[in-house]
Amino acid sequence: MARLGIFDSGVGGLTVQKAIFERLPGLDTVYLGDTARVPYGSKSPEVVTQYSLRNARFLMAREVDLLVIACNTASAVALPALRKEFAIPVLGVVEPGARAAARASRSGRIGVIGTPSTIASGAYQRAISAARPDAKVIALACALFVPLAEEGWTDPDDEVVRAVAHRYLAPLARADIDVLVLGCTHYPLLKGALAKELPGVALVDSAEAIAAEVAERLAGGVVGTAAHLFFVTDTPDRFLAVAERFLGRPVAGAEQVDI
Ligand code: DGL
Repeated sequence: MARLGIFDSGVGGLTVQKAIFERLPGLDTVYLGDTARVPYGSKSPEVVTQYSLRNARFLMAREVDLLVIACNTASAVALPALRKEFAIPVLGVVEPGARAAARASRSGRIGVIGTPSTIASGAYQRAISAARPDAKVIALACALFVPLAEEGWTDPDDEVVRAVAHRYLAPLARADIDVLVLGCTHYPLLKGALAKELPGVALVDSAEAIAAEVAERLAGGVVGTAAHLFFVTDTPDRFLAVAERFLGRPVAGAEQVDI
């Protein structure tokens, strides 16, 4: 029986958990949201790696068999450090998302959006080029999409959402991309607005891409009890208030831990 450990800087990783639930409804999971230290997307690689190691050690103590880094920023900068420290398989969202984009693109012109730290790391750009050496990658940081999604401002017809999406995505609209990688946990909530701004562009959700990879890894071996534990590092109130929008179902409770 497999037990999956999954962590994120906060609530956003629940989009990844949602995609995993859809594929593997019986899986047992332990989720940690580092809500005391969020956001990671504006922090240095050193600090994000240090936080990620702490998160992973906490989950390892809960005897997980597979570790998923749901946070794109942590996946982009901390994956090698985590793989070095832990013997169990550690999966990040960047590689599956990059491979899915490389497969989906006809023209090889691929856009990537993420937090400033994810984009600055160059991790998506490298992973896409590794999967498809002829690719032309246009990567853009879109810092304001995270607070918009948490605030629930995701309606594609909302004037603020439209204005922010237009301002960020205009260079991509001009760049003639045919695929856009949603390289941040929060962006699936903004799919409607992104699609409206970039008609005809295929949106690759790194949450779905990693869920497919987890399902592949655990093929045939998932006979869990669908038991789900949630931990947070700040008081749970805000996490619980917004969790349902990210997970697609309510989270009954989350335990605050000091890690
Ligand atoms: N979870 C982060 C990511 O996917 C977004 C929120 C943050 O900046 O911590 O990059």
